[in-house]
Amino acid sequence: MANDSKTTSKAGRFQDIISHCKEYGFVFPGSEIYDGLQAVYDYGQWGSELKKNIKDHWWKSMTQMHENIVGIDAAIFMHPTTWKASGHIDNFNDPMIDNKDSKKRYRVDHLIEGYAEKLYAENKTQEAEEVLEEMNSLLAKDDFEGLKKLIVDHKIKCPISGTSNWTDIRQFNLMFSTQMGSVAGEEGEGIVYLRPETAQGIFVNFLNVQKSGRMKIPFGIAQIGKAFRNEIVARQFIFRMREFEQMEMQFFIRPGTQKEWYERWKETRMNWHLSLGIAKERYRFHNHVKLAHYADAACDIEYEFPIGFKEVEGIHSRTDFDLKNHQEYSKKKMQYFDNDIDPATGKPYGNYIPYVIETSIGLDRMFLLVMSEAYTEEDLSTAEKQDSRVVLKFPPSLAPVKLAVLPLVKKDGLPEIARKIMDDCKASFRCFYEEKDTIGKRYRRMDAIGTPFCVTVDQQTKEDNTVTIRYRDTMQQERIHLNKIKEIILQSIG
Ligand code: GAP
Repeated sequence: MANDSKTTSKAGRFQDIISHCKEYGFVFPGSEIYDGLQAVYDYGQWGSELKKNIKDHWWKSMTQMHENIVGIDAAIFMHPTTWKASGHIDNFNDPMIDNKDSKKRYRVDHLIEGYAEKLYAENKTQEAEEVLEEMNSLLAKDDFEGLKKLIVDHKIKCPISGTSNWTDIRQFNLMFSTQMGSVAGEEGEGIVYLRPETAQGIFVNFLNVQKSGRMKIPFGIAQIGKAFRNEIVARQFIFRMREFEQMEMQFFIRPGTQKEWYERWKETRMNWHLSLGIAKERYRFHNHVKLAHYADAACDIEYEFPIGFKEVEGIHSRTDFDLKNHQEYSKKKMQYFDNDIDPATGKPYGNYIPYVIETSIGLDRMFLLVMSEAYTEEDLSTAEKQDSRVVLKFPPSLAPVKLAVLPLVKKDGLPEIARKIMDDCKASFRCFYEEKDTIGKRYRRMDAIGTPFCVTVDQQTKEDNTVTIRYRDTMQQERIHLNKIKEIILQSIG
Protein backbone atom coordinates (compact mmCIF):
# COMPACT_ATOMS: atom_id res chain seq x y z
CA MET A 1 0.00 0.00 0.00
CA ALA A 2 1.20 3.52 -0.60
CA ASN A 3 1.29 6.50 1.67
CA ASP A 4 2.78 9.69 0.30
CA SER A 5 0.45 12.25 1.79
CA LYS A 6 1.34 15.87 1.42
CA THR A 7 -0.37 16.92 4.64
CA THR A 8 2.35 18.36 6.81
CA SER A 9 1.48 17.58 10.42
CA LYS A 10 0.54 14.13 11.66
CA ALA A 11 -2.38 15.54 13.68
CA GLY A 12 -3.57 17.34 10.54
CA ARG A 13 -3.37 14.14 8.57
CA PHE A 14 -5.41 12.31 11.21
CA GLN A 15 -8.08 15.00 11.10
CA ASP A 16 -8.08 14.81 7.28
CA ILE A 17 -8.68 11.04 7.47
CA ILE A 18 -11.56 11.49 9.94
CA SER A 19 -13.17 14.13 7.69
CA HIS A 20 -12.68 11.99 4.61
CA CYS A 21 -14.29 9.00 6.36
CA LYS A 22 -17.37 11.08 7.06
CA GLU A 23 -17.60 12.87 3.72
CA TYR A 24 -17.30 9.69 1.67
CA GLY A 25 -19.55 7.35 3.66
CA PHE A 26 -16.99 5.33 5.61
CA VAL A 27 -17.56 6.28 9.27
CA PHE A 28 -20.15 8.57 10.85
CA PRO A 29 -20.40 9.71 14.48
CA GLY A 30 -23.03 7.47 16.18
CA SER A 31 -26.54 8.99 16.53
CA GLU A 32 -25.23 12.16 14.95
CA ILE A 33 -28.61 13.89 14.70
CA TYR A 34 -28.68 13.90 18.52
CA ASP A 35 -25.14 15.32 18.61
CA GLY A 36 -23.56 11.89 18.78
CA LEU A 37 -22.77 9.46 21.57
CA GLN A 38 -19.23 9.66 22.83
CA ALA A 39 -16.86 7.02 21.45
CA VAL A 40 -19.62 5.30 19.45
CA TYR A 41 -19.43 5.28 15.66
CA ASP A 42 -21.49 3.96 12.74
CA TYR A 43 -20.00 2.55 9.57
CA GLY A 44 -21.48 3.94 6.38
CA GLN A 45 -22.07 2.44 2.96
CA TRP A 46 -18.40 2.12 2.00
CA GLY A 47 -17.06 1.70 5.53
CA SER A 48 -19.22 -1.36 6.13
CA GLU A 49 -17.98 -2.90 2.85
CA LEU A 50 -14.34 -2.23 3.78
CA LYS A 51 -14.89 -3.61 7.28
CA LYS A 52 -16.51 -6.75 5.89
CA ASN A 53 -13.63 -7.28 3.46
CA ILE A 54 -11.11 -7.01 6.34
CA LYS A 55 -13.18 -9.51 8.33
CA ASP A 56 -13.38 -11.94 5.41
CA HIS A 57 -9.65 -11.63 4.82
CA TRP A 58 -8.86 -12.44 8.48
CA TRP A 59 -11.45 -15.22 8.67
CA LYS A 60 -10.13 -16.91 5.53
CA SER A 61 -6.50 -16.65 6.62
CA MET A 62 -7.34 -18.11 10.03
CA THR A 63 -9.86 -20.84 9.22
CA GLN A 64 -9.68 -21.78 5.54
CA MET A 65 -5.88 -21.56 5.45
CA HIS A 66 -5.33 -23.47 8.71
CA GLU A 67 -6.79 -26.97 8.70
CA ASN A 68 -6.62 -27.09 12.51
CA ILE A 69 -8.54 -23.85 13.17
CA VAL A 70 -12.33 -23.63 13.11
CA GLY A 71 -14.62 -20.68 13.70
CA ILE A 72 -17.59 -20.11 15.99
CA ASP A 73 -20.09 -17.35 16.65
CA ALA A 74 -20.97 -17.22 20.35
CA ALA A 75 -23.56 -15.00 22.03
CA ILE A 76 -22.65 -11.59 23.42
CA PHE A 77 -24.50 -12.28 26.66
CA MET A 78 -22.91 -14.98 28.76
CA HIS A 79 -23.73 -16.50 32.14
CA PRO A 80 -22.58 -13.95 34.76
CA THR A 81 -20.32 -16.52 36.43
CA THR A 82 -18.24 -16.53 33.24
CA TRP A 83 -16.87 -13.12 34.24
CA LYS A 84 -16.15 -14.19 37.79
CA ALA A 85 -14.22 -17.19 36.49
CA SER A 86 -12.38 -15.19 33.85
CA GLY A 87 -11.26 -12.65 36.45
CA HIS A 88 -12.95 -9.72 34.74
CA ILE A 89 -15.20 -8.87 37.69
CA ASP A 90 -12.22 -8.61 40.02
CA ASN A 91 -9.43 -7.53 37.72
CA PHE A 92 -10.71 -5.78 34.61
CA ASN A 93 -10.00 -2.38 36.03
CA ASP A 94 -8.08 0.68 35.05
CA PRO A 95 -6.56 3.07 37.59
CA MET A 96 -8.36 6.41 37.29
CA ILE A 97 -7.87 9.86 38.69
CA ASP A 98 -10.36 12.76 38.76
CA ASN A 99 -9.60 16.44 38.48
CA LYS A 100 -11.62 18.15 41.22
CA ASP A 101 -12.02 21.38 39.27
CA SER A 102 -13.07 20.10 35.84
CA LYS A 103 -14.71 16.95 37.29
CA LYS A 104 -13.07 15.07 34.41
CA ARG A 105 -11.87 11.53 34.97
CA TYR A 106 -8.66 10.24 33.37
CA ARG A 107 -6.99 6.91 32.95
CA VAL A 108 -3.75 7.41 34.85
CA ASP A 109 -1.55 5.95 32.09
CA HIS A 110 -3.21 8.16 29.46
CA LEU A 111 -2.71 11.27 31.56
CA ILE A 112 0.98 10.55 32.10
CA GLU A 113 1.49 9.50 28.47
CA GLY A 114 -0.09 12.77 27.34
CA TYR A 115 2.41 14.62 29.54
CA ALA A 116 5.30 12.57 28.08
CA GLU A 117 4.10 13.37 24.54
CA LYS A 118 4.39 17.08 25.37
CA LEU A 119 7.93 16.54 26.66
CA TYR A 120 8.83 14.75 23.42
CA ALA A 121 7.37 17.65 21.43
CA GLU A 122 9.62 20.01 23.41
CA ASN A 123 12.62 17.75 22.61
CA LYS A 124 12.95 16.73 26.28
CA THR A 125 13.37 13.13 25.20
CA GLN A 126 15.30 11.89 28.21
CA GLU A 127 12.82 13.34 30.69
CA ALA A 128 9.91 11.85 28.72
CA GLU A 129 11.51 8.42 28.74
CA GLU A 130 12.25 8.58 32.46
CA VAL A 131 8.63 9.49 33.24
CA LEU A 132 7.30 6.62 31.10
CA GLU A 133 9.74 4.15 32.61
CA GLU A 134 8.76 5.14 36.13
CA MET A 135 5.06 4.97 35.21
CA ASN A 136 5.46 1.44 33.81
CA SER A 137 7.28 0.23 36.87
CA LEU A 138 4.65 1.74 39.22
CA LEU A 139 1.79 0.31 37.13
CA ALA A 140 3.38 -3.13 37.24
CA LYS A 141 3.33 -2.94 41.05
CA ASP A 142 -0.17 -1.38 41.25
CA ASP A 143 1.54 1.34 43.28
CA PHE A 144 -1.21 4.00 43.20
CA GLU A 145 0.43 6.23 45.79
CA GLY A 146 3.62 6.25 43.73
CA LEU A 147 1.64 7.08 40.58
CA LYS A 148 -0.15 9.97 42.30
CA LYS A 149 3.23 11.25 43.54
CA LEU A 150 4.58 11.06 39.98
CA ILE A 151 1.63 13.17 38.73
CA VAL A 152 2.02 15.68 41.57
CA ASP A 153 5.85 15.89 41.35
CA HIS A 154 5.69 16.62 37.64
CA LYS A 155 2.85 19.12 38.15
CA ILE A 156 0.80 17.32 35.49
CA LYS A 157 -2.25 19.42 34.76
CA CYS A 158 -5.80 18.61 33.67
CA PRO A 159 -6.09 19.63 30.00
CA ILE A 160 -9.58 21.05 30.69
CA SER A 161 -9.20 23.02 33.96
CA GLY A 162 -5.45 23.56 33.70
CA THR A 163 -5.12 22.74 37.43
CA SER A 164 -3.34 19.98 39.35
CA ASN A 165 -6.14 19.53 41.88
CA TRP A 166 -6.32 15.70 41.74
CA THR A 167 -8.23 13.07 43.72
CA ASP A 168 -6.55 9.87 44.84
CA ILE A 169 -6.23 7.12 42.26
CA ARG A 170 -9.00 4.49 42.23
CA GLN A 171 -9.75 1.36 40.26
CA PHE A 172 -12.68 1.48 37.81
CA ASN A 173 -14.24 -1.65 36.25
CA LEU A 174 -14.63 -1.41 32.49
CA MET A 175 -17.53 -3.84 31.99
CA PHE A 176 -21.01 -2.65 31.00
CA SER A 177 -23.81 -4.39 32.86
CA THR A 178 -27.51 -4.66 32.19
CA GLN A 179 -30.54 -6.50 33.54
CA MET A 180 -31.80 -9.72 31.99
CA GLY A 181 -35.56 -10.33 32.12
CA SER A 182 -38.20 -7.79 33.04
CA VAL A 183 -38.38 -8.05 36.84
CA ALA A 184 -35.68 -6.56 38.98
CA GLY A 185 -35.15 -8.84 41.97
CA GLU A 186 -32.58 -8.84 44.76
CA GLU A 187 -29.61 -6.60 44.27
CA GLY A 188 -27.27 -8.17 41.72
CA GLU A 189 -29.89 -10.69 40.59
CA GLY A 190 -30.39 -10.90 36.81
CA ILE A 191 -27.32 -8.76 36.12
CA VAL A 192 -25.58 -9.72 32.91
CA TYR A 193 -22.55 -8.13 31.30
CA LEU A 194 -21.89 -7.12 27.74
CA ARG A 195 -18.80 -9.16 26.96
CA PRO A 196 -15.57 -7.14 27.20
CA GLU A 197 -13.75 -9.68 25.01
CA THR A 198 -14.97 -12.37 22.63
CA ALA A 199 -12.45 -14.89 24.00
CA GLN A 200 -14.69 -16.21 26.79
CA GLY A 201 -17.26 -17.43 24.25
CA ILE A 202 -14.48 -19.61 22.88
CA PHE A 203 -13.32 -20.90 26.27
CA VAL A 204 -16.78 -21.96 27.41
CA ASN A 205 -17.27 -23.80 24.10
CA PHE A 206 -13.85 -25.43 24.11
CA LEU A 207 -15.15 -28.93 24.82
CA ASN A 208 -18.21 -28.59 22.57
CA VAL A 209 -15.99 -27.78 19.61
CA GLN A 210 -13.25 -30.25 20.51
CA LYS A 211 -15.70 -33.14 20.85
CA SER A 212 -18.13 -32.32 18.04
CA GLY A 213 -15.29 -31.46 15.65
CA ARG A 214 -13.01 -34.32 16.85
CA MET A 215 -10.26 -31.72 17.13
CA LYS A 216 -6.79 -32.84 18.11
CA ILE A 217 -4.38 -30.62 20.02
CA PRO A 218 -2.85 -28.34 18.81
CA PHE A 219 -5.96 -26.67 17.38
CA GLY A 220 -7.55 -23.25 17.33
CA ILE A 221 -10.99 -21.65 17.57
CA ALA A 222 -11.54 -18.31 15.87
CA GLN A 223 -14.31 -15.80 16.34
CA ILE A 224 -15.28 -12.32 15.15
CA GLY A 225 -17.71 -10.30 17.22
CA LYS A 226 -18.64 -7.25 19.20
CA ALA A 227 -17.05 -6.42 22.53
CA PHE A 228 -17.93 -3.59 24.91
CA ARG A 229 -15.83 -1.61 27.34
CA ASN A 230 -16.79 1.40 29.37
CA GLU A 231 -13.63 3.23 28.36
CA ILE A 232 -13.32 6.32 30.51
CA VAL A 233 -11.14 8.26 28.18
CA ALA A 234 -12.56 7.24 24.87
CA ARG A 235 -10.85 9.29 22.20
CA GLN A 236 -8.99 9.23 18.93
CA PHE A 237 -11.86 8.38 16.63
CA ILE A 238 -12.39 4.62 16.13
CA PHE A 239 -9.11 3.81 17.87
CA ARG A 240 -10.74 3.57 21.30
CA MET A 241 -14.47 2.89 21.27
CA ARG A 242 -17.01 1.73 23.80
CA GLU A 243 -18.56 -0.72 21.34
CA PHE A 244 -16.07 -2.34 18.99
CA GLU A 245 -15.32 -5.57 17.21
CA GLN A 246 -12.60 -8.12 17.88
CA MET A 247 -11.17 -10.90 15.74
CA GLU A 248 -9.76 -13.41 18.19
CA MET A 249 -8.27 -16.86 17.98
CA GLN A 250 -7.48 -19.17 20.90
CA PHE A 251 -4.92 -21.82 20.07
CA PHE A 252 -5.06 -24.81 22.44
CA ILE A 253 -1.73 -26.49 23.08
CA ARG A 254 0.03 -28.99 25.27
CA PRO A 255 1.34 -27.44 28.54
CA GLY A 256 5.05 -26.74 28.30
CA THR A 257 4.94 -25.84 24.59
CA GLN A 258 3.66 -22.30 25.14
CA LYS A 259 6.97 -20.49 24.54
CA GLU A 260 7.42 -22.13 21.14
CA TRP A 261 3.79 -21.47 20.05
CA TYR A 262 3.88 -17.92 21.35
CA GLU A 263 6.87 -17.19 19.11
CA ARG A 264 5.24 -18.95 16.15
CA TRP A 265 2.04 -16.96 16.45
CA LYS A 266 3.95 -13.70 16.82
CA GLU A 267 5.66 -14.43 13.53
CA THR A 268 2.51 -15.68 11.77
CA ARG A 269 0.52 -12.63 12.76
CA MET A 270 3.23 -10.16 11.80
CA ASN A 271 3.48 -11.88 8.40
CA TRP A 272 -0.28 -11.51 7.97
CA HIS A 273 0.06 -7.76 8.42
CA LEU A 274 3.02 -7.54 6.06
CA SER A 275 1.21 -9.62 3.42
CA LEU A 276 -1.08 -6.63 2.87
CA GLY A 277 1.91 -4.85 1.37
CA ILE A 278 2.51 -2.58 4.36
CA ALA A 279 6.12 -1.54 5.01
CA LYS A 280 7.88 -3.40 7.83
CA GLU A 281 9.08 -0.12 9.37
CA ARG A 282 5.51 0.82 10.21
CA TYR A 283 5.25 -2.09 12.63
CA ARG A 284 6.94 -3.04 15.84
CA PHE A 285 6.42 -5.44 18.73
CA HIS A 286 5.90 -4.04 22.20
CA ASN A 287 6.34 -6.43 25.10
CA HIS A 288 3.93 -5.94 28.00
CA VAL A 289 5.53 -4.83 31.24
CA LYS A 290 2.37 -5.25 33.29
CA LEU A 291 0.82 -8.56 32.28
CA ALA A 292 -2.96 -9.00 32.20
CA HIS A 293 -4.30 -11.18 35.01
CA TYR A 294 -4.39 -14.24 32.73
CA ALA A 295 -1.03 -14.04 30.90
CA ASP A 296 2.51 -15.39 31.42
CA ALA A 297 3.82 -13.53 28.34
CA ALA A 298 2.22 -10.91 26.13
CA CYS A 299 3.08 -8.41 23.45
CA ASP A 300 1.33 -5.99 21.14
CA ILE A 301 1.79 -5.56 17.44
CA GLU A 302 1.97 -1.79 17.10
CA TYR A 303 1.46 0.17 13.91
CA GLU A 304 2.57 3.73 13.27
CA PHE A 305 -0.81 5.47 13.05
CA PRO A 306 -0.85 9.21 12.31
CA ILE A 307 -1.23 9.54 16.12
CA GLY A 308 1.98 7.56 16.70
CA PHE A 309 2.87 3.90 17.25
CA LYS A 310 -0.19 2.24 18.85
CA GLU A 311 -1.45 -1.27 19.55
CA VAL A 312 -3.48 -2.93 16.83
CA GLU A 313 -3.21 -6.55 17.95
CA GLY A 314 -2.26 -8.46 21.10
CA ILE A 315 -0.58 -11.86 21.29
CA HIS A 316 -1.02 -13.42 24.70
CA SER A 317 0.19 -16.61 26.29
CA ARG A 318 -2.84 -17.21 28.54
CA THR A 319 -1.62 -20.41 30.22
CA ASP A 320 -4.50 -22.63 31.43
CA PHE A 321 -5.89 -19.73 33.48
CA ASP A 322 -9.29 -19.51 31.78
CA LEU A 323 -10.07 -23.19 31.27
CA LYS A 324 -8.89 -24.03 34.80
CA ASN A 325 -11.11 -21.36 36.32
CA HIS A 326 -14.13 -22.36 34.21
CA GLN A 327 -13.59 -25.92 35.39
CA GLU A 328 -13.52 -24.73 38.99
CA TYR A 329 -16.58 -22.46 38.76
CA SER A 330 -18.73 -24.68 36.51
CA LYS A 331 -17.64 -27.97 38.08
CA LYS A 332 -17.39 -29.34 34.52
CA LYS A 333 -14.16 -31.00 33.42
CA MET A 334 -12.22 -28.95 30.90
CA GLN A 335 -9.69 -31.67 30.22
CA TYR A 336 -8.39 -33.15 27.05
CA PHE A 337 -7.05 -36.68 26.64
CA ASP A 338 -3.87 -36.62 24.57
CA ASN A 339 -3.06 -40.10 23.27
CA ASP A 340 0.15 -39.02 21.54
CA ILE A 341 3.19 -40.70 23.03
CA ASP A 342 5.41 -38.62 25.30
CA PRO A 343 8.99 -39.56 24.27
CA ALA A 344 10.18 -38.92 27.83
CA THR A 345 7.96 -41.62 29.34
CA GLY A 346 7.01 -43.76 26.33
CA LYS A 347 3.36 -43.38 27.45
CA PRO A 348 0.49 -41.18 26.21
CA TYR A 349 0.55 -37.62 27.48
CA GLY A 350 -2.84 -38.39 29.00
CA ASN A 351 -5.30 -35.91 30.56
CA TYR A 352 -4.52 -32.24 30.94
CA ILE A 353 -6.08 -28.80 30.76
CA PRO A 354 -4.66 -27.25 27.59
CA TYR A 355 -2.63 -24.07 27.57
CA VAL A 356 -3.68 -21.27 25.24
CA ILE A 357 -2.00 -18.80 22.92
CA GLU A 358 -4.35 -16.02 21.91
CA THR A 359 -4.16 -13.65 18.98
CA SER A 360 -6.56 -10.74 19.36
CA ILE A 361 -6.92 -7.98 16.80
CA GLY A 362 -9.34 -5.07 16.92
CA LEU A 363 -11.32 -4.93 13.69
CA ASP A 364 -11.94 -1.19 14.03
CA ARG A 365 -8.25 -0.54 14.66
CA MET A 366 -7.40 -2.65 11.61
CA PHE A 367 -9.90 -0.55 9.66
CA LEU A 368 -8.15 2.62 10.85
CA LEU A 369 -4.79 1.09 9.96
CA VAL A 370 -5.91 0.23 6.44
CA MET A 371 -7.44 3.68 6.05
CA SER A 372 -4.30 5.44 7.39
CA GLU A 373 -2.11 3.43 5.07
CA ALA A 374 -4.30 4.06 2.02
CA TYR A 375 -5.10 7.76 2.48
CA THR A 376 -2.99 9.71 0.00
CA GLU A 377 -3.09 13.32 -1.11
CA GLU A 378 -1.45 13.87 -4.47
CA ASP A 379 -0.45 17.11 -6.10
CA LEU A 380 -1.15 16.75 -9.84
CA SER A 381 -0.42 20.38 -10.78
CA THR A 382 1.17 21.10 -14.11
CA ALA A 383 2.64 24.34 -15.50
CA GLU A 384 -0.80 25.10 -16.96
CA LYS A 385 -3.07 24.33 -14.01
CA GLN A 386 -3.26 23.53 -10.33
CA ASP A 387 -4.71 20.13 -9.56
CA SER A 388 -4.73 17.58 -6.77
CA ARG A 389 -6.57 14.46 -5.71
CA VAL A 390 -7.27 12.42 -2.60
CA VAL A 391 -7.02 8.73 -3.34
CA LEU A 392 -7.45 5.71 -1.09
CA LYS A 393 -4.88 3.18 -2.27
CA PHE A 394 -6.48 0.10 -0.73
CA PRO A 395 -5.23 -3.33 -1.74
CA PRO A 396 -7.84 -4.29 -4.41
CA SER A 397 -9.01 -7.26 -2.33
CA LEU A 398 -10.06 -4.90 0.50
CA ALA A 399 -11.47 -2.06 -1.61
CA PRO A 400 -15.23 -1.50 -1.00
CA VAL A 401 -15.90 -1.23 -4.74
CA LYS A 402 -13.71 -3.13 -7.19
CA LEU A 403 -15.03 -1.77 -10.48
CA ALA A 404 -16.79 1.41 -11.60
CA VAL A 405 -18.63 1.20 -14.91
CA LEU A 406 -19.01 4.61 -16.54
CA PRO A 407 -20.74 5.35 -19.84
CA LEU A 408 -19.08 8.44 -21.30
CA VAL A 409 -22.46 9.98 -22.18
CA LYS A 410 -26.03 9.18 -21.21
CA LYS A 411 -27.15 8.40 -24.76
CA ASP A 412 -26.31 6.62 -28.05
CA GLY A 413 -26.73 3.19 -26.48
CA LEU A 414 -23.69 3.61 -24.17
CA PRO A 415 -25.66 3.16 -20.90
CA GLU A 416 -27.08 -0.10 -22.29
CA ILE A 417 -23.59 -1.50 -22.96
CA ALA A 418 -22.42 -0.34 -19.51
CA ARG A 419 -25.43 -2.05 -17.90
CA LYS A 420 -24.47 -5.29 -19.67
CA ILE A 421 -20.97 -5.06 -18.16
CA MET A 422 -22.56 -4.51 -14.73
CA ASP A 423 -24.77 -7.56 -15.20
CA ASP A 424 -21.80 -9.65 -16.24
CA CYS A 425 -19.60 -8.61 -13.27
CA LYS A 426 -21.83 -7.80 -10.30
CA ALA A 427 -22.29 -11.38 -9.14
CA SER A 428 -18.51 -11.81 -8.91
CA PHE A 429 -17.49 -8.59 -7.11
CA ARG A 430 -18.85 -5.20 -5.99
CA CYS A 431 -19.42 -2.88 -8.95
CA PHE A 432 -20.67 0.69 -9.12
CA TYR A 433 -22.53 2.31 -12.02
CA GLU A 434 -22.49 6.05 -12.62
CA GLU A 435 -23.44 8.23 -15.59
CA LYS A 436 -23.67 11.70 -14.00
CA ASP A 437 -21.01 14.45 -14.35
CA THR A 438 -17.84 14.62 -16.43
CA ILE A 439 -15.68 11.55 -16.60
CA GLY A 440 -12.89 13.42 -14.72
CA LYS A 441 -15.19 14.13 -11.76
CA ARG A 442 -16.39 10.55 -11.73
CA TYR A 443 -12.80 9.25 -11.66
CA ARG A 444 -11.99 11.54 -8.71
CA ARG A 445 -15.03 10.30 -6.77
CA MET A 446 -13.94 6.71 -7.37
CA ASP A 447 -10.38 7.59 -6.23
CA ALA A 448 -11.83 9.04 -3.05
CA ILE A 449 -13.52 5.73 -2.13
CA GLY A 450 -10.55 3.68 -3.33
CA THR A 451 -12.03 1.93 -6.39
CA PRO A 452 -9.04 0.28 -8.10
CA PHE A 453 -10.56 0.02 -11.61
CA CYS A 454 -12.85 2.19 -13.71
CA VAL A 455 -14.00 1.24 -17.19
CA THR A 456 -15.41 3.84 -19.54
CA VAL A 457 -17.77 2.92 -22.35
CA ASP A 458 -17.54 5.30 -25.33
CA GLN A 459 -18.46 5.48 -29.03
CA GLN A 460 -15.55 3.24 -30.00
CA THR A 461 -16.97 0.50 -27.76
CA LYS A 462 -19.87 0.20 -30.23
CA GLU A 463 -17.43 -0.32 -33.08
CA ASP A 464 -14.84 -2.72 -31.66
CA ASN A 465 -16.13 -3.92 -28.24
CA THR A 466 -13.27 -2.25 -26.37
CA VAL A 467 -13.44 -0.01 -23.29
CA THR A 468 -10.94 2.25 -21.55
CA ILE A 469 -9.75 0.81 -18.27
CA ARG A 470 -8.24 3.30 -15.83
CA TYR A 471 -5.96 2.17 -13.01
CA ARG A 472 -6.48 4.07 -9.75
CA ASP A 473 -2.91 4.28 -8.46
CA THR A 474 -1.09 5.21 -11.68
CA MET A 475 -4.12 6.86 -13.36
CA GLN A 476 -2.92 5.15 -16.54
CA GLN A 477 -5.50 4.17 -19.09
CA GLU A 478 -5.54 1.53 -21.78
CA ARG A 479 -8.03 -0.01 -24.15
CA ILE A 480 -9.04 -3.58 -23.51
CA HIS A 481 -11.63 -5.90 -24.95
CA LEU A 482 -14.92 -6.10 -23.05
CA ASN A 483 -14.44 -9.75 -22.34
CA LYS A 484 -11.15 -9.07 -20.48
CA ILE A 485 -12.68 -6.85 -17.77
CA LYS A 486 -13.82 -9.53 -15.37
CA GLU A 487 -10.62 -11.53 -15.69
CA ILE A 488 -8.40 -8.51 -14.88
CA ILE A 489 -10.37 -7.68 -11.76
CA LEU A 490 -10.66 -11.25 -10.53
CA GLN A 491 -6.91 -11.65 -10.95
CA SER A 492 -6.17 -8.52 -8.94
CA ILE A 493 -8.39 -9.47 -5.99
CA GLY A 494 -6.99 -12.99 -5.81
N1 GAP B 1 -8.93 -11.18 24.59
C1 GAP B 1 -7.80 -10.34 24.80
C2 GAP B 1 -8.10 -8.94 24.70
O1 GAP B 1 -9.24 -8.53 24.64
P1 GAP B 1 -6.96 -6.60 24.54
O2 GAP B 1 -5.52 -6.24 24.30
O3 GAP B 1 -7.65 -5.97 25.68
O4 GAP B 1 -6.98 -8.17 24.65
C3 GAP B 1 -7.42 -6.89 21.99
O5 GAP B 1 -7.79 -6.29 23.21
C4 GAP B 1 -7.56 -5.91 20.86
O6 GAP B 1 -8.87 -5.34 20.85
C5 GAP B 1 -6.61 -4.71 20.96
O7 GAP B 1 -5.35 -5.01 20.41
C6 GAP B 1 -7.35 -3.67 20.14
O8 GAP B 1 -7.05 -3.80 18.78
C7 GAP B 1 -8.81 -4.02 20.36
N2 GAP B 1 -9.41 -3.10 21.36
C8 GAP B 1 -9.33 -3.17 22.70
N3 GAP B 1 -10.02 -2.17 23.27
C9 GAP B 1 -10.55 -1.43 22.27
C10 GAP B 1 -11.38 -0.27 22.22
N4 GAP B 1 -11.82 0.32 23.30
N5 GAP B 1 -11.73 0.22 20.99
C11 GAP B 1 -11.30 -0.39 19.85
N6 GAP B 1 -10.54 -1.50 19.85
C12 GAP B 1 -10.16 -2.02 21.03
